[in-house]
Formats: sequence, C-alpha cells, structure tokens
Amino acid sequence: MVQLHDKQFVPFISAEEIDFAIQKMVAQIEDDFADEIPVFIGVLNGSFMVVSDFVKKYSKPCEVSFLKMASYNGLTSTNEVKELIGLNQDLTGRSVVVIEDIIDTGHTIVELKTLIKKQNPKHFKIATLFFKPDAYKKDVKIDYIGIQIPNKFIVGFGLDYDGLGRNLPEVYQLKD
Ligand code: IMP
Ligand code: MG
Repeated sequence: MVQLHDKQFVPFISAEEIDFAIQKMVAQIEDDFADEIPVFIGVLNGSFMVVSDFVKKYSKPCEVSFLKMASYNGLTSTNEVKELIGLNQDLTGRSVVVIEDIIDTGHTIVELKTLIKKQNPKHFKIATLFFKPDAYKKDVKIDYIGIQIPNKFIVGFGLDYDGLGRNLPEVYQLKD
C-alpha cells in the first residue's frame, strides 16, 4: 500500500502489464506508419514515462516532442481558452501521434486535436496508455489504447495525486 498526502492507494497494474501494453501499441503504430517518420507528441506532465518507454521500443525513425496545455478561465466558466505551450515544431504535412498517459472525460484530447489540426498534419492519431471508457464523453476516436480501466482514480507511472506518485513504476488505485 502507498500513502500520498491524505489518501491510501493499493496495487492495481504491474510494471510488467504496463510494459506489455506499451509494446502492443508500439507494434500497431510501427505497422501503421511503416512508410512514414512519425512525430510523437507527449502531453506533459503525465506522459513522460509512457513516451520514454514507447520510443525506446520503437525501432524505426521517429521524432519526439512534448507540449503542455495551458487553460485560462474567461469571464464565464464555459468560455475556457486553451493554448499549446512548448510546441515549437512545424507539423504541416507530418504524421502526428499524440501519446497520452490517460484519457478520462476526453476534454483535454479534444482541445488538443483542434489545436494540432490547425497546423494541417497529414495524419493525426491518438494513443493513450490508460483509457476510462465509462468516463469518456466525446466522439473523437481513440486510435490506440493500452489498457482500459474502470472509472477509478489511479496514480503511478507518470500519474499523480496532487503532485505525488508520478515516480512509482507501477500503477495504484484509490483504496475504497
Ligand atoms: P481528461 O478528463 O480526459 O481531459 O483528462 C485530463 C487529465 O486528468 C489527464 O491528462 C490526467 O492528467 C488527469 N487524470 C484523469 N484521470 C486521472 C487519474 O485516474 N489519475 C490521475 N490523473 C488523472
Ligand atoms: Mg495528461
């Protein structure tokens, strides 16, 4: 068991299962992009571990970049504007694969898709290590999914609870 701040977490997904899921995504993406040099884009902070393991397993030429999403609250809560921070790369005509740690409601990935599509990439695909199908509320297709999980809060392998837990090499879930 792991204690982070006021909460306790119990083991949920082992490092071996995570490794297997990443390998599966790598194999699919290597096949689908056999004739391309894809640009893998990790979404910080959470995706640093999955991107690192992913690209170490990816055996063909590729590029790697990271970005952050910044959100600004407008005058009303519905008037939220998001912006890409740190993406200093031209994606025109490129095969872009966004690599996420987790997709929950899908809000982040939908905003990201809109912003990246403005740069006219040749392909835009979405890969995520973890996916919560019961929480996902969007129509955007998730192209590559590592592991589907129930709608429960998890930490580890890049994912945090209030800043803590990102360094854990396996995944834990909130204790009931
Ligand atoms: P979204 O709801 O799909 O937009 O997810 C937004 C972000 O919430 C993710 O990129 C994570 O940073 C965070 N998140 C969602 N679910 C979890 C979780 O179970 N543990 C830790 N962070 C999460
Ligand atoms: Mg994230």
